[in-house]
Amino acid sequence: MNTNHLVAPSVLAANFGNLSKDIQMVNKSQADWFHVDIMDGRFVPNISFGFPILKVLKEQAQKPLDVHLMIVEPEKYLEQFVEAGASVLTVHYEACTHLHRTIGAIKELGAKAGVALNPHTPVSLLDNIIQDIDLVCLMSVNPGFGGQSFIENTYKKIYEVRALNEQYNTQTLIEIDGGVGLKNVNALLKAGASVLVAGSSVFKSDNPTLTIESLKKSSPNTLMV
Ligand code: DX5
Ligand code: ZN
Repeated sequence: MNTNHLVAPSVLAANFGNLSKDIQMVNKSQADWFHVDIMDGRFVPNISFGFPILKVLKEQAQKPLDVHLMIVEPEKYLEQFVEAGASVLTVHYEACTHLHRTIGAIKELGAKAGVALNPHTPVSLLDNIIQDIDLVCLMSVNPGFGGQSFIENTYKKIYEVRALNEQYNTQTLIEIDGGVGLKNVNALLKAGASVLVAGSSVFKSDNPTLTIESLKKSSPNTLMV
């Protein structure tokens, strides 16, 4: 159970025709981080954006950039992403042959290191790396697109990360990415989520600032309608 969670709006769902407006909205909101999805068209069947957009974010965002790399061979670009402003840099377990080395490199660059797991990837695979990472990103949709439905099996995986945290006495953040919104925030917090990524549910809502506030104010016991 977690009552001190972070909210990270996903820029993927922002309006790129007027990105500054959405960045300012997040700056002024109760959000904690900007979640930034980098897709290469190889690890995932979609291409999002790259360094030019990160440059804008670095210049204008007043909150940490939580950069989620959905790319093959992420180790080739770690330095560039940290230079581009990433405070948290997350790589996919499935994309890293030498994950331990990659995590070490991220930390040496001064960023927090995260590992993302696709919906089918077992949490038990983190057994030998949990002590080295700052964040586990549980994909609650198949990565590649915003606006998909939340996969319910994610709850089980949250409990499994918590069990690993207890076993190793670690405080690895549990980030949930995909299909997160007001309808499942309470259940996610109750299960033990610590970082909530929200794209469509924030940017496609009538009042994004208020949606962020509601996500932030939620607690495991709040009743949402
Ligand atoms: C999916 C991305 C997510 C995405 C979430 O591959 O990693 O961060 O932006 O979007 P929503 O919240 O719309 O499911
Ligand atoms: Zn993401």
